[in-house]
Amino acid sequence: MKRKVTKAIFPVAGLGTRFLPATKSIPKEIMTLVDRPLIQYAIDEARAAGIKEFIFVTSRGKGALEDYFDHAHELEANLRRSGKDDLLEILRDTNMDSGAIAYIRQHKALGLGHAVWCARRLIGNEPFAVILPDDVIAAEKPCLQQMVEAYQETGGNMVAAMEVPPEKAGAYGVLDINEDMGAMVSVKGMVEKPKADEAPSNLAVIGRYILTPKVMQNLNRIKSGAGGEIQLTDAIAEEIARSNNVFGYRFRGQRFDCGSKAGFLQATVAFGLARAELHDEFIQFLIGMTASRRAAE
Ligand code: G1P
Repeated sequence: MKRKVTKAIFPVAGLGTRFLPATKSIPKEIMTLVDRPLIQYAIDEARAAGIKEFIFVTSRGKGALEDYFDHAHELEANLRRSGKDDLLEILRDTNMDSGAIAYIRQHKALGLGHAVWCARRLIGNEPFAVILPDDVIAAEKPCLQQMVEAYQETGGNMVAAMEVPPEKAGAYGVLDINEDMGAMVSVKGMVEKPKADEAPSNLAVIGRYILTPKVMQNLNRIKSGAGGEIQLTDAIAEEIARSNNVFGYRFRGQRFDCGSKAGFLQATVAFGLARAELHDEFIQFLIGMTASRRAAE
């Protein structure tokens, strides 16, 4: 029987320099799509997948992120007094059960693999999920939930995967496919940020993982890889040679790279349009905007 996945790591230590000056004083993960911070989307997805323990790997200057998950007693009391139950309901999603959330500091920016490794004592000997909040995925069934269900069949290690244009493969971890079974692929190799013409395919790793504790052990001794950083991809790739249990999962949904400005804007449009109360006004605006742009060109 496969063990349930109840712990998830959220690496949130990055400086977010691509969003300066905003990230001078707010953590990137607090930046909002419509009215919810990026991190809220990640948490909601984890909850839907059955995650009960939320482990944040943070760094200096991420205080706002910790505050975000606290109860805002004064605000809640105010809303209660004025009978604003709808707003209280919105806040409820942001509150975590006592003890469900843990913060670990990554003291040096040594890479994603290192960030994950910082949480090793909280993971212990259990399978765990990793969610990169920069990758926001709009899906009918949340991506990690799809993966947890698929994992019931496979066990082992699973990464979310998506075809990317070949010229973009160098920005990702890329899978070398052993057997392609449709949604699921078994993997015979993984390369982090391959050089042009060295990518084994154009099937890229997206920021959702279900991993065995063995990957954490691999991180104990892994040396720095691509970009001089300790790479999670390399620690997972070791499992291929050892136990041949690494799978890519082509999720159903649309992924937005909210680590980039273009991706963030696209996500804002998509999530804005998806909101019933905004849809009509927003789409009229977009149509008008595109028409006047076209006319001006
Ligand atoms: C990280 C991972 C990479 C993965 C990507 C997905 O890279 O190292 O394997 O493809 O996330 O977003 P980063 O974007 O942090 O450079």
